[in-house]
Amino acid sequence: MAENNMMDKEKYLDEIEDSIRTIGVLTSGGDAPGMNAAIRAVVRRALSKGLKVRGIRRGYHGLLKEEIIDLSARDVSDTIQRGGTILQTARCKSMRTEEGQQKAAAICKKYGIDGLVIIGGDGSFAGAQKLANLGVNTIGVPGTIDLDIACTDYTIGFDTAVNTAMEAIDKVRDTSTSHERCSIIEVMGRDAGYLALWCGIANGAERILMPEEHDFDEQALIEDIMKNKKRGKKNYIIINAEGIGDSINMAKRIEEATGIETRATILGHMQRGGSPTCKDRVYASIMGAMAVDLLCQGKTNRVVGYKNGQYVDYDIEEALAMKKTISEYQYNIAKSLAI
Ligand code: ADP
Ligand code: F6P
Repeated sequence: MAENNMMDKEKYLDEIEDSIRTIGVLTSGGDAPGMNAAIRAVVRRALSKGLKVRGIRRGYHGLLKEEIIDLSARDVSDTIQRGGTILQTARCKSMRTEEGQQKAAAICKKYGIDGLVIIGGDGSFAGAQKLANLGVNTIGVPGTIDLDIACTDYTIGFDTAVNTAMEAIDKVRDTSTSHERCSIIEVMGRDAGYLALWCGIANGAERILMPEEHDFDEQALIEDIMKNKKRGKKNYIIINAEGIGDSINMAKRIEEATGIETRATILGHMQRGGSPTCKDRVYASIMGAMAVDLLCQGKTNRVVGYKNGQYVDYDIEEALAMKKTISEYQYNIAKSLAI
């Protein structure tokens, strides 16, 4: 692990490897608010060092189709506050094949891309690692609303997504209280429960269902809903992680068993949109700029992260091998606050 404090960065500002003249940037996998701030930082940090910047549209798919454009400082004007990604994003099956990876590396060379910044999640970093093995300098920047990248405490997009979901859940709670209902609200997060846990705590949910606790007992949940009514509560909010899913059927089963009207709301892709929060803009800006700095130092096959209050970088293989778990302690606190 390499820690980068301000002094280190100032030291290497002028030290640019001769081999780095053009930097490419792409966004890959699910989009996340703050990706534009990261693109902008890559572009402007590189230009400020006298480098040329190329943007690759539609992730690895666009790379393989040679959808490559030059990017100027003005091309990223007015983007820091915008959700989504101005470069578009995609998922690309061919990039998982050796043939696809070799073609992608050859295209980088053809367009003179000496270093490539990949903004995305673990899958995108696996692609970056393959390209690095084929001689393209790559640095990953963590961008996903899921917060499921083990090497970093923070991923670009999580803060905006969790706030968007929290506001939506507050609205569902209002109507749930009026009608004295049970509400199941399904949040995104692929196989991870971070969005669910954070919303569960922030929205004061009675119950949080996460894939990490997948073997929950539905009968016990039903009994708790009944007890909750006896305790005088006017609603019962269940935050259900996408990794568990089944919200609509679960609502039917709960209503049938308890006699309490139950509705399911699936928040879906609205959680991925919207203007990024201050936190997402700042982390994205620093991580994007840092990716350029690392390339300029001659580093490759690394991913930027934020750990224990420091911006850090890890070898991609090391980063992908790391494991991250939901805090049992925090989950228990959420439970005890729901009485
Ligand atoms: P995320 O980057 O958010 O985890 P995905 O898992 O969908 O999203 O991965 C994004 C893209 O990264 C995939 O569509 C594919 O092109 C590429 N990718 C994923 N896994 C690999 C792999 N093992 N090798 C090469 N490329 C990969
Ligand atoms: O990884 C981000 C994410 O929004 C997950 O939370 C979700 O499972 C997935 O992407 C949805 O992907 P798609 O946009 O392809 O439906």
